[in-house]
Amino acid sequence: PTAERVKDLLRRMTLDEKIGQMDQIAVTRIQGDCEWSGGALNDACMKTVLKDYAAGSILSGGGMGPSKNTPKDWAEMVNAVQKYAVDNSRLHIPILYGVDAVHGHNNILGATVFPHQIGLGATWDPALVRRTGASTATAVAATGIDWNFAPVADLARDQRWGRYYETYGEDPLLTGTLAAASVKGIENAHGAKQVAATVKHFGGYSEPSNGHDRVPADVSMRYLQDTLLPPYHRAVQAGAKTVMINSGAVNGVPATGSKYLLTKVLRDKWGFDGVTVSDWEDVRALQTRYHLAPDYTHAVALAVNAGLDMAMEPYSAKGFTEALREAVDNKLVSKRRIDQAAGRVLRLKIELGLFEHPYVDASKADEAVLGADADLARKAATASQVLLRNDGNVLPIAKSAKKIVVTGPKADNIDDQAGGWTIGWQRVPDGVELPGTTVLEGLKDAAPQGTEIVHARTAEEAAAEAADADLVVAVVGERAAAEGEADSPRPELAADQQSLVKTVKASGKPVVTVVIAGRPLALGDADGTQGLLMSWLPGTEGGHAVADVLFGKANPGGRLTVSWPKAIGNEPFHYQQLPGTNGGPGSGYEPLFAFGAGLSYTDYSFDAVTVAGDSVRPDGTVKVKVTVSNTGGRDGRLVVPVYASRPVGSAVLAAPKRLAAFTKVTLKAGRTRQVELSVPLSRLAVTPGDLDGAGTPRVEAGVYRLTAGEKSADFTVR
Ligand code: IFM
Repeated sequence: PTAERVKDLLRRMTLDEKIGQMDQIAVTRIQGDCEWSGGALNDACMKTVLKDYAAGSILSGGGMGPSKNTPKDWAEMVNAVQKYAVDNSRLHIPILYGVDAVHGHNNILGATVFPHQIGLGATWDPALVRRTGASTATAVAATGIDWNFAPVADLARDQRWGRYYETYGEDPLLTGTLAAASVKGIENAHGAKQVAATVKHFGGYSEPSNGHDRVPADVSMRYLQDTLLPPYHRAVQAGAKTVMINSGAVNGVPATGSKYLLTKVLRDKWGFDGVTVSDWEDVRALQTRYHLAPDYTHAVALAVNAGLDMAMEPYSAKGFTEALREAVDNKLVSKRRIDQAAGRVLRLKIELGLFEHPYVDASKADEAVLGADADLARKAATASQVLLRNDGNVLPIAKSAKKIVVTGPKADNIDDQAGGWTIGWQRVPDGVELPGTTVLEGLKDAAPQGTEIVHARTAEEAAAEAADADLVVAVVGERAAAEGEADSPRPELAADQQSLVKTVKASGKPVVTVVIAGRPLALGDADGTQGLLMSWLPGTEGGHAVADVLFGKANPGGRLTVSWPKAIGNEPFHYQQLPGTNGGPGSGYEPLFAFGAGLSYTDYSFDAVTVAGDSVRPDGTVKVKVTVSNTGGRDGRLVVPVYASRPVGSAVLAAPKRLAAFTKVTLKAGRTRQVELSVPLSRLAVTPGDLDGAGTPRVEAGVYRLTAGEKSADFTVR
């Protein structure tokens, strides 16, 4: 019936109405079309955008919203825009309203803000990621919104790149698995409305050649097919209803105009039949940035013919719709293609139930609903903490500690703790107070009776206070920012923060460094403290999470999903570097902390790895059993990763190892467990061939080794 309904609508729609469905406008950014000065759309603007040009979708990008920013304001505004569209479009077609709720409903005061994806990645826990996705979708839906531009399925391989923290990590399997879990969470949330997820930014966005956002990526077809595309594929397979296109160019072709990516890979190979949407003003960029079209009409034709269904052309409904109309009139774009694209948008609206239930009850969109999942946020933030150093068991903090000095610019800084894309695009806007718990507040809350927490604001103060203290906690890191503004040619801890840590180290008291940042930072003089905890951008509950780990209420179970470079200049840096002469002990090129690193307050051992059946077909699945034990004194949650390698490869270099499967298990102190994991061999596929080899990835025959911990087992692919 959905297909019939789409057909029926298309039959009754005019060409201009269909073209309108393919247009997305930023509600807070309209320029030129109508008189508008911020806040909610006024009637005149709604008439232009929704009636005259019949735009099919509205977005509040990067947290831009109505001037008053309560959940109820949002719900009322979205309802009003929706009502205008329904009442004033000839066929009463609702709009799709999209937002960037990339780690919780970031637009709303009172909303729970989860850790950014880089922190969620460190949990290695798809079920938890799914729950955060569902919680976000419920909050989003409560405010009338039906489309969330999340998750990100790009990879974190270049520490300089400003969007590193928006990814789940550097590994394709882990990233794809977590992105798929997020899609399922968002799209099956059972909130006030159904919400569509967006797999972004397809494909190869994370490889700007010099680390700056949106700089073209030049990558081999082998790397593209074997490494970059699989995570998006897994997320698409999870049922994602929409895909957002990479703003950059890949191998000389802007993704927005790439028939290879948008049609051959996404539609023909992967069978995706949802909606593709461009990123911000990227159709126009085909003309103005990339100079691949003599005018806007040709730019529009290029994108639509490549396979783009909806253009995020924020500033003007007039521009895109008139240009596409001209392209159709001049036979640059076929009416069939318009029907296909508009039909997909209409189908999405039908599938989301928008024709039947376009509005939400604004009275229910209150802070209590949106902040309801604080416990989940705390759980996620706690699970994302990665303990990297614990010399002399400085952690957990001894119950006998009488005085703890807390210092550093991130100790009492909720905005940096939340990262970019939080209420505002770059960071929490000035003058807006983000509810949440800072590390200092969390430590004060959690400190046992008799333990004094002293906040030292300067290095001198910290050094003086340290004299009679038991421990110093230095909370350091990065300033929150987003996209290009978060690019960092030198991803290192700022000099003044290095010197702060150096000063407190000199006090002779044990120091625990807590890093609040979206990427591994070169620590310089700050390295070498007894304790080191990577907290990422842990969100509103981050302070509690850090305190729970430091005081030992929680046993840290997070593991790095990225490799931590030792020195500046090694970027891009990841564990799947192909073998060459640039590595090796002493070269400075080995990681400070490897992919998968992370300590806990107990000890684990990997005792055996066995493979069921020693000969497998290339399209088969290998079952692998791993015996793990908790040999320490505390219960814990342990990541069990299984890596695949080939003792001898074929003509093509392969990564020294690839994550082939993983799971996370709870192990009580003293217990042993056998864990079974499946490795579909398709995960080990590589694109074969010499330099001209842009063939299809396949699993090569030969001997493979599966490793977990120090143990391994071999099998043969025949
Ligand atoms: O969804 C985002 C995207 O990630 C970056 N550019 C703007 C979009 C909408 O805000």
